[in-house]
Amino acid sequence: MIIRKSDLMDKIIVLDFGSQYSHLICRRMREFSVYSELVPFDISLEELKKLEPKGIIFSGGPSSVYKSDAPIPDKGIFDMKIPLLGICYGHQLIVNQFGGKVKRANKEYGSSMLTIDNDTNLLGGISESIRAWMSHGDEAEQVPTGFEIIGHTESAQAAAIANKSGSIFGIQFHPEVVHTEQGTQILKNFALKICGAKQEWTMKTFVENSVEKISKIEGNVLCAVSGGVDSTVTALLIHKAIGDRLKCIFVDNGLLRKNEEKEIEEMFTKNFSVNFNSINAKEEFLKKLKGIIDPEQKRKIIGEEFIRIFTDFAEKNGPFKWLAQGTLYPDVIESGVSKGPASVIKTHHNVGGLPDWLKLEILEPLRDLYKDEVRKIGEILGVPKLLLIRHPFPGPGLAVRIIGEITEKKLQIAKIASKIVEEELEDAELYDKVWQAYAAVGDDKAVGVVGDERKYGNIVMIRVVDSVDAMTADWTRLPHGLLEKISNRITNEIDDVTWVSYVVSSKPPATIEPQ
Ligand code: XMP
Repeated sequence: MIIRKSDLMDKIIVLDFGSQYSHLICRRMREFSVYSELVPFDISLEELKKLEPKGIIFSGGPSSVYKSDAPIPDKGIFDMKIPLLGICYGHQLIVNQFGGKVKRANKEYGSSMLTIDNDTNLLGGISESIRAWMSHGDEAEQVPTGFEIIGHTESAQAAAIANKSGSIFGIQFHPEVVHTEQGTQILKNFALKICGAKQEWTMKTFVENSVEKISKIEGNVLCAVSGGVDSTVTALLIHKAIGDRLKCIFVDNGLLRKNEEKEIEEMFTKNFSVNFNSINAKEEFLKKLKGIIDPEQKRKIIGEEFIRIFTDFAEKNGPFKWLAQGTLYPDVIESGVSKGPASVIKTHHNVGGLPDWLKLEILEPLRDLYKDEVRKIGEILGVPKLLLIRHPFPGPGLAVRIIGEITEKKLQIAKIASKIVEEELEDAELYDKVWQAYAAVGDDKAVGVVGDERKYGNIVMIRVVDSVDAMTADWTRLPHGLLEKISNRITNEIDDVTWVSYVVSSKPPATIEPQ
């Protein structure tokens, strides 16, 4: 089931031609409270009309309009008589569609100075010249009849164009990226002034409307919570709507961060009075993982054990009609370019492998939302800030941060050392500036000296990385003084550790987790 208050709101639809920035266009508009949705470029005219957009944006994309396989939207869009804005590839598409000419140009990547030639409509209220972010290989050579140039750069004469009636626009640069000065103002001009969209998208109304809709569902809801932001907010939103008809299951597999299981249980039961079922399965997990050193086998065992516990719980505590999941918007839609329409929209089901008899309908109350919006909802619902800003943590937990066999001793080392890393980063006000930060441990040992005695102890690896989406990551250049403090604390506070190393490998070729 999809909870969509957004169906009723004024909205700007973004057609996705495959740019890495497509989602960013939607996010920017939602930041000023206009609802925006990303759809594949080849959406049918009928489907698009059903959405009743106030305006349409064509995103950028890697293709060239003159190529035979260039992605082209339904031509009927140009007759819908609603405002259109083309960005980068979208700009070239508009130029081409209305009879202008696009040519291959020298690749331009980076910021250029854009001079505004007409400061009404789209570029109203913008400074005379701004830095604008360019990322393109083609450019408009000849502006279509009925259009005028409203902005230019040194290398692109038609960097911004508008039709005479001020309803169709093309811009070569990317207003959605932060490197374009006043880019948000340009999107605002389009959405508010040109399309007349109302600013109706707020998280407060999202919560109110979701609660109203969810409260109408029948039957019980089962939700697995991990302590992560998405599953926590999903559970709390549903709980607000249906109270104890929601049952949460939390599996303590013994592979969590220090004290995490207690913190999560306390939040759900004390702060929110949720029907919260904590299953202490630490022993079972560790028993099954005994002697296992292969990372993939560890993952497989953990996944199967989780499904077993989950299924057992559902059997004993059911019947359940719904399975709640914290699916977010970026998981729902993937770029439409070079994929058939059928494969374009896919729903991710995080809990795979459930048995057939457990026929559950899927409830995904966050599937219209971006992560920053989920955090805002968390704030509205009273989720502690610490949880909202906590770094991502892998599903198999410390199993992927312990190299070799998982033993009680290595678990304790990883937990305490990671806690020290987190505490010191917080103290240095760097915790929320890095993507992930933890300590890993393996079987390698090194000699140390404690007092007058030689000691043969474990080597701990500290991993701190910067990233925007975990696809790539760079190791964080932490100040040496901070590294020294972390190292001193770890060797002083954990008896078994003699050496601390800092991982200076980026992704690629490394990955964020060691396993
Ligand atoms: P890697 O190590 O592949 O990690 O660079 C990328 C991001 O994914 C997280 N990660 C996982 N998350 N199950 C998860 O739910 C897993 O098996 C898993 N492995 C890695 C990792 O923490 C990082 O944020």
